[in-house]
Amino acid sequence: MSTQQKQSNVVKAVRGTRDLMPPETALWNRIEAKAREVFARYGFGEIRTPVFEATELFARGVGEETDIVSKEMYTWEDGDRAPREPQAGGLEARREKPHSLTLRPENTAGVVRAYIEHKLGESGQLQKLYYIGPQFRRERPQRGRYRQFWQIGVEVLGPVSSGSESPVRDAEVLEMLATLLDELGVKNWRLELNSVGSSEDRRRYGAVLREALAGVKDRMCEDNRRRAETNPLRVLDSKEPADQEIINALPKIADYLGEDSRAHFEAVLAALDACGVPYAVNPRLVRGLDYYTRTTFEFTVPDGSGLGTQNALLGGGRYDGLSEMLGGPKAPGIGFAIGEDRLILVLQEQDGREGVNAPHPEWMWAQKLDAYIAPMGVERNAAALALARELRRAGLSVEVGNGSFRLKKSFEAADRVARHIVILGEDEVATSTATVKTFATGEQTKVPQVDLAAHLQQ
Ligand code: HAM
Repeated sequence: MSTQQKQSNVVKAVRGTRDLMPPETALWNRIEAKAREVFARYGFGEIRTPVFEATELFARGVGEETDIVSKEMYTWEDGDRAPREPQAGGLEARREKPHSLTLRPENTAGVVRAYIEHKLGESGQLQKLYYIGPQFRRERPQRGRYRQFWQIGVEVLGPVSSGSESPVRDAEVLEMLATLLDELGVKNWRLELNSVGSSEDRRRYGAVLREALAGVKDRMCEDNRRRAETNPLRVLDSKEPADQEIINALPKIADYLGEDSRAHFEAVLAALDACGVPYAVNPRLVRGLDYYTRTTFEFTVPDGSGLGTQNALLGGGRYDGLSEMLGGPKAPGIGFAIGEDRLILVLQEQDGREGVNAPHPEWMWAQKLDAYIAPMGVERNAAALALARELRRAGLSVEVGNGSFRLKKSFEAADRVARHIVILGEDEVATSTATVKTFATGEQTKVPQVDLAAHLQQ
């Protein structure tokens, strides 16, 4: 078999999915740790919901007409296919009815389902929940857009009496995001926000928009012609260059907001001003999911920040009617999801461009191990492993080489991964010492093994 034949025989990762590997995964972990730390400071706790749910959840929650539900979900019929053991009386047990399941394309609907299912509203408390996990959408893969991607998200929801509707909640979530992005070292982020009003405001505006579109839709692209009929609001976030002039001239939702929605939005903006969080109101920002009401927002980065043609690092907003749409009690809420893959691309692009002057905080860099233990001769392998066990138990990070390596090879291997090389030869083993070289200073000394952990921590 030729090499080419062999290669075509190899099973590869599915299109649009990726393997994440060291050392990059260390960056993922540090970013997740930073997010958890920031969320904890704001009183959030973690929720983990299943990666698949009943398809109906997304059809009802996210909306049948959205791109996500109408064309991007991974859905299958699930049922008990294996025939059961015949029951007494010779009747075959009833098979489980097939039901439709879907890999979650997003996590807000799942969190609200869990809120309803576990009756979290009965405590009367505001729920502040965060999640970190994979989501699945059958989109056309490109840089920054994958079929399995990760989101870091939060949801704040509860009964009205818990203050869940207050504009303070919106501003706090946005201020937390600004803090998180700053502490991650993301530069040049831009917060764009808008109000899409209550569901009545949206209905009223939807009708106005449909009428306005009726006169101009024939001059628009096919996608927008379809949206003009099925979901006119979606026309507003079309990126089709040829349609931009027409879209900019359409009626603005701000002019159709009811008094409550208008006052709510103004209070959010005033609270952001008070916290010193910069923002830009974007009247066309309506977002692609049907559950949004009132405040909607995105954080974007400028072109050339590493995201290819995408520029949304994260998106979110209020969903004051979602719980009722899913059969639950009234539970207004607000949340967001950061595209973690995109966040990493942006941080890596900043590194690449700025090299050693990259502004990233110290914690974001891959740390070298404390020590690499180099046994001299295979007879020293066991002693090296025993010494590594002691040091690791003392909290140090240690790699063990191999006694068959020549000294030069051990030095090269150690220099790549560790701050110190610990040489263990016949003499060192006999005297319970070790020869330590510190790569940063070039200093080399013999250290009693009892003092080794302290010496290596320097
Ligand atoms: P979304 O705007 O659909 O909102 O997604 C949020 C973020 O996930 C996007 O801004 C993007 O960074 C990332 N993202 C989406 N699709 C992909 C993809 N195919 N590949 C890579 N990254 C992607 C939601 O999902 C809402 N559940 C957010 C929310 C939470 N709203 C309220 N609470």
